[in-house]
Parts: sequence; structure tokens; C-alpha cells
Amino acid sequence: MSTSWTSFGGDLHLDLGERRAAGAGLRASLEDALREAVQDGRLTPGTRLPSSRALGEDLGIARNTVVEAYGQLTAEGWLSSRQGSGTTVARRSVPVRGGRTAPAGPRRRSVRHDLMSGRPDLSLFPRTAWLAATRRALATAPHEALGYGGPLGRIELREALTHYLARVRGVRTDPDRLLVCGGVQQGLGLLCAALRERGARSVAVEAYGLPPQHALIRAAGLSTVPLPLDERGARVDLLDARCGAALLTPAHQFPTGAPLAADRRAAAVRWAREQDRYVVEDDYDGEFRYDRQPLGAMQALDPERVVYAGTASKSLAPGLRLAWLALPDALVEPVARLKTMADTMSPVIEQLTLAELITSGTYDRHVRRCRLHYRRRRDRLVAALAEHAPHVRVTGIAAGLHAVLQLPPGSTPEAELLARAEAVGLALSGLTWHRAGPPGGDGGDGGDGGPPALVIGYAAPPEHAFPAALDALCELLRGA
Ligand SMILES: Cc1ncc(COP(=O)(O)O)c(C=O)c1O
Repeated sequence: MSTSWTSFGGDLHLDLGERRAAGAGLRASLEDALREAVQDGRLTPGTRLPSSRALGEDLGIARNTVVEAYGQLTAEGWLSSRQGSGTTVARRSVPVRGGRTAPAGPRRRSVRHDLMSGRPDLSLFPRTAWLAATRRALATAPHEALGYGGPLGRIELREALTHYLARVRGVRTDPDRLLVCGGVQQGLGLLCAALRERGARSVAVEAYGLPPQHALIRAAGLSTVPLPLDERGARVDLLDARCGAALLTPAHQFPTGAPLAADRRAAAVRWAREQDRYVVEDDYDGEFRYDRQPLGAMQALDPERVVYAGTASKSLAPGLRLAWLALPDALVEPVARLKTMADTMSPVIEQLTLAELITSGTYDRHVRRCRLHYRRRRDRLVAALAEHAPHVRVTGIAAGLHAVLQLPPGSTPEAELLARAEAVGLALSGLTWHRAGPPGGDGGDGGDGGPPALVIGYAAPPEHAFPAALDALCELLRGA
């Protein structure tokens, strides 16, 4: 059944026939066809869809089938429907096809349930407060603020961050050593270039981490040296003179979740002092700790040896591209110079707005609200797995927006689980993908040697879509 559908005032070709021939039901075929049309841009955000009656007539199918398909796609966040204004293509919740932390590999099918790690619930973004803060910031900013400024960023934000980071994370810095950058990703790139200028040839990284960071380090001409992990964090005792720097996630190892033990923090700093090296502390989700007192930043142990990197990507939104580095004195000049070369400075209005949000106390309130929200999410994940997949061990849940699910030895291999997840539109990553070195091991699972494990970002779906995502995950694991 191939239909050109015209009742919404445009013309859209929906091919249900092929899908039906492949064995899909009518409703599922319609859902797939609409999802695909949104994903590939044929149906743009805000487009009003025909009434269920009109579309049913156009397609020659029962109205109820259309009602059910619209309902499902609304629950998934593709469409939105409002009393009195019908159904439209959602303006802001189009799931991402192969986003930044999506596993490499074949093109991903349409995402129905997004459980990729590294993503906050974007529906929590404080739009009203952000708008109000922008208005206040613009009303009070001098004209000069809109011109070319220094590479470190706006003084208002650096001052606000200095106080905020000292209070919340125990960071010891001052505005002259803070640099505002376009995400930790940019900050890390600048640091790698600066370290290379100083003669570094390699960076020690945790054995599991964020592959785009590993790729960035290598693109800067540095090799990565994986440090094994255990339940006390990275084996920093293996750092030696050959490592030019170390990139660590001390508060909440990404992705396995262990905090770096106190004696290891001290040992890493000792190594940096003795070898004249730097540790880069990626504090990507330091504000989200649930069950215990937050662990302070490692940077406080020695601000001249530890570069602190923080970001608004989890607390607000990755799309802001706002992050900060608290730099040792010796790195301020080279990193600022490289930032000038990269993009002169970070965009000003966002910086002024964030400064306003922090100094007014709104940012603290927002973070508290998010923490509560994510903590509940985590509890729901843990409860659902305990009920439906008790054989799965959930780890790394004391903090952050993701968990690691470990399956017992002999379970369905990781690669097969991922393929099954993809087939039902469930986006998640396998632990193997996070591996810093070349895959090794005995190949009995995901190619990684150990039993299969999945990394689940429980923050990503908007609230209405979370129950369905959880169901899909439990279904995947039930028989695994
Ligand atoms: C380990 C880790 N570091 C840093 C970040 C934040 O990166 P950025 O500030 O570039 O968005 C993320 C986000 O996914 C992350 O997972």
C-alpha cells in the first residue's frame, strides 16, 4: 500500500505497503512510516498533521488505527497533541539519529527509546528562567560586552563560577585562571595541544571512557595509554614517566561508576608533581550524587597540578556548549592563546545568562530539582530490573545519569543484545564500546573478555517516554 497523503495541505508519500509485506501490522507500519518521515525531515517540526479521520480516509484504514499510531508517537515524543489544536510534529523532541555518544557501526534504525548515556532530560531545561536571565543580562550588560573580548571569557561568569565551584565542588581557583570553552570537548582539545607544545606524547586514560575523547586526544597527535580499573577507580599506580598527562573522572568513573579512592587521588597528584605532569579532572556530573555526601573535586589537592574541567551539558543542556577549565598558572597563557586561535572566545550572551542564573540562585535550585528527578529515575530503573530482570547486576548508581548493567557469564553476548535493542528502536551502548584500547579478550561476549554489560542513560527520555523505555529495556533483558 503506497499512498500519497494530501489531507494536511502538503503532499507526503507514505509507503505502508513495503512494511506490511515485511510482516508489520497496519498500525506499526503507519507508526514506522511517520517516524521515518519526521526523522528524514519530510515532516518538519511544527507541521500540523491531518485529523485521524482525514488520514484514515486518505489511507483507507480505520480511524482508530490512526488514533493509536498518533498516541504511540506522541508518547515517544515525535508528535505532540493539544486539546483544540490537533496533532503536530513535536518541535523539540525529535530523537537523535546516531548522536555524539552513539556507538559506531552501521546506521542506526529509528530511535524509539533513548537510553544512551551522557544525555540529560532536555525537557527539564529551565526555559522560563533562562529567558528571564537573558533579559536581565542583556538589560545590564555594557555595550563593550558584545565586542571582541579576552579568550578566558566574560568576567561575570568567571567570577560567578569561581564562587560556585568553591562552594559546591571545593575547587580552588580564581577568575584569572578560569577559561570558558565550548564544552569539555573543546577544553580537552585545547589542553592536548598545550600539552603537546610542552613535549607530551601520550595521555593516560581510564580503560573505559568516552570514545570521542580518546579520538580527540589521538587527533591532537598524542597516544592514549589505558589504565586498568577496579572498584577503587583507575590504577594510577601504573602512571609512569612515559605518560605525558592523565585524564581521569575521579568523582564518578565514566562509565563504570566507581569514585577514585582517596589514596589514589593523592598518588595521582604525587605522580604529577614528581614527573612535572598534569592530571585533567573531568568532573562531568559532579553535581549529581545521590546517596552519599558529594565527593569534592580532586583539583583541591593541588590546583597547580590538576586541571579541573566542568560543564553545563548535564546540568542544563549539551546544546549550550558551555564548559570551563580551572587551570594551573603555567597553563593559562598557552590554553588562552590556543582558545584565541580556535574561536577567539565563547559566545557572550550565553555566558552572561549563565552568570546571572548562578548569582541569582536559580541555577542551584534547578540543579536540586534535576537531582531529585534523576534520583527517582534511577530508583525506578533499579526497581524495574529487580522485578523483571533479577539476574542483572546494576552498578555505578550512587551518582550521575547512567548505570552499568552487568549480565551473568554465559548470558546473551553483548553484540547480540545490542542488535536486538536496535531492532526494537532501543538506543543504548555496550560497555565494550567505551573501551579505550583495541578490543581484546577471549571474544566470548561483546569482544571484551568479561561478561556482557550495558551502559544505560536513564536521564535521556522525557518523563512521558520513560516508562515505555524502561519496559523495552526489561523486555530485552528478560530472556538475555
Ligand atoms: C565523560 C564525559 N565527559 C564530559 C562530558 C561533557 O562533554 P561536553 O561538555 O563537551 O558536552 C560528557 C558528556 O557526555 C561525558 O560523558
